[in-house]
Amino acid sequence: MREKLKRIAVMTSGGDSPGMNAAIRSVVRTCAYYKIECIGIYRGYQGMIEGDFINMTARSVNHIIHKGGTILKSARSKEFMTKKGRQKAYKNLIKHDINALVVIGGDGTFTGGVVFNKEFKFPVVGIPGTIDNDIYGTSHTLGYDTALNTAMEAIDKIRDTASSHNRLFIVEVMGRDAGFIALNAGVGAGAEEILIPEENLGLDRMLESLKKSKSSGKSSSIVVVAEGDKSGKTVFELADYVEENLPEYEVRVSVLGHMQRGGSPSCFDRVLASRLGVKAVELLIDGKTNIMVGLKDNQVVSTSLEKAIKGIQEINMELLRVSDIMTT
Ligand code: F6P
Repeated sequence: MREKLKRIAVMTSGGDSPGMNAAIRSVVRTCAYYKIECIGIYRGYQGMIEGDFINMTARSVNHIIHKGGTILKSARSKEFMTKKGRQKAYKNLIKHDINALVVIGGDGTFTGGVVFNKEFKFPVVGIPGTIDNDIYGTSHTLGYDTALNTAMEAIDKIRDTASSHNRLFIVEVMGRDAGFIALNAGVGAGAEEILIPEENLGLDRMLESLKKSKSSGKSSSIVVVAEGDKSGKTVFELADYVEENLPEYEVRVSVLGHMQRGGSPSCFDRVLASRLGVKAVELLIDGKTNIMVGLKDNQVVSTSLEKAIKGIQEINMELLRVSDIMTT
């Protein structure tokens, strides 16, 4: 017979995202519901190496569902990338009688989880938490919906000033390798052009579309650019490029940056976090390991952590076509 789970540890790692607190709350309360002890690990894998642990009860997570950031803090640990670091971390888990781990984060976090599971046969379940939405096996990662709306609302505000001065704004949004925020916030805010890492449509296309906007009588224009777009130019270089080629435009740049990672999670992210946390703990109780919980067709599903890391979350290119039509 399988040994009963006594203690589960939970941690957040990598870039924080709105909804991480709601997920911690869900894991802690699900543990309490099933009478399993729960330990919080501060600062992700680094805290695991240093034994920075805290006992958590259902009451430790009161009034955090609406809070951005993560009460357990987050970090990217170089030490955990070494075997020595991982051995220290493992010893700490054993010393504290912990028999399973829930990791909340993105692909770096999951890669750490897979290696740890392989080396020590330690049960690990992942909850996808990143604003980039670039994890295979879930239609939504925690924080993506909130960040998307934060970016869209910021672009709406930029539109006000762009329109008052008849200006073009180039707005950089987050997404080092993925254009989910850029594409969706761009369509949502009615951007004239959207540049994403997944597709290099060339700068001629952007100039053409801006020329068209001007001649069609538009008073302002917005170009949304994902951090990792493939134009080969920074947003400041893009601004110079447009002004050189289309002198009729007065261009300004706005980099939204880390404000997209903060703020109170949307209702969608809170509900998603609650559902994924319950499932993560229940899978561990069922003896499952090395898997990620996610959402597909509004159902909670699981995918192997390896697949979640290696698979590609495809962006919906149809949205680029919709965006083109909307800029008519
Ligand atoms: O959380 C993902 C992400 O927002 C990326 O889009 C971005 O490039 C990165 O984090 C920046 O993270 P940091 O400043 O923490 O290194």
